[in-house]
Amino acid sequence: MNKLVSKSSDVRDLQGHYALITGATGGVGQACAEIFADAGMHLILAGRDHTKLEQLRATVQQQNPVDVQIVTGEIGSPATAEHAFSRIRSIGTGQVTVLINNAGVIVRATAEETSNNDWQQVMDINLNGLFYFSRAYAQQAHSDGAIINISSTCGSVGSAGLAAYCASKGAVNQLTRAMALELAERGINVNAVAPGAIDSPMLFSGHDTAALSDSVVAKNEANIPQGRIAQPQEIARAALFLSQQRHITGTILSVDGGYTSA
Ligand SMILES: NC(=O)c1ccc[n+]([C@@H]2O[C@H](COP(=O)([O-])OP(=O)(O)OC[C@H]3O[C@@H](n4cnc5c(N)ncnc54)[C@H](OP(=O)(O)O)[C@@H]3O)[C@@H](O)[C@H]2O)c1
Repeated sequence: MNKLVSKSSDVRDLQGHYALITGATGGVGQACAEIFADAGMHLILAGRDHTKLEQLRATVQQQNPVDVQIVTGEIGSPATAEHAFSRIRSIGTGQVTVLINNAGVIVRATAEETSNNDWQQVMDINLNGLFYFSRAYAQQAHSDGAIINISSTCGSVGSAGLAAYCASKGAVNQLTRAMALELAERGINVNAVAPGAIDSPMLFSGHDTAALSDSVVAKNEANIPQGRIAQPQEIARAALFLSQQRHITGTILSVDGGYTSA
């Protein structure tokens, strides 16, 4: 072995470690659960709907012999993250090695149309909840792990009609960079994945008829250089890749078919 290559330069071996996934019941969350379990990770699935979380646990465990724990609660409440991490300590799983901050919501409104409640809801779920989970993770006081924030192309480029969503994801990108610096000495990598349009329920929210669903896909595809929207698994694989890397931190990884390069 090259003497200059220390052990810490190896790719992080995640097998047998725990990943906590917020928004686990959604399109990207489920894909993360399946792909991280395929990589041999035990899971803590966080969400609001206990029945859906139980169904996901059964699906994952049919495919892989991994431990799957469930925590429920509103992501926008600081108590949910505290409860999740204290539950993890109490069931003796040790620590969370990988945190996937994935829960999110979209409000389709211009700034002038956005109500106080809608603004607050988007900030509570997309930004505040992500902050509460990230802070609780950092307070575990351990080294060698990863936080992956699921951001959006809307974090770096504007999108008319998505004012609150863009603001929340821009803030996620900056929190990613700041925490990457704060946790660098402990060997904790903090990165974000920035997807463009994904074939998952969020894309179709507010476009409930078949015709509207088709048109939202066509509209998005027309603006993506590669001419197609992403599958949730492509976002999950990017999150897994970043979770394994020790020398990538503070990065916002675009997974958008070239959308933000145009
Ligand atoms: N879909 C896209 O086109 C797209 C594009 C770029 C970025 N993203 C980002 O990707 C991430 C995942 O989105 P997705 O496409 O998988 O969306 P999704 O299928 O709608 O899933 C969203 C997840 O967030 C959870 N969630 C929403 N509000 C919550 C709350 N108050 N408390 C706890 N959990 C809550 C949902 O739980 P319930 O099942 O209980 O509702 C669901 O599990 C989000 O951060 C999103 O902003 C999505």
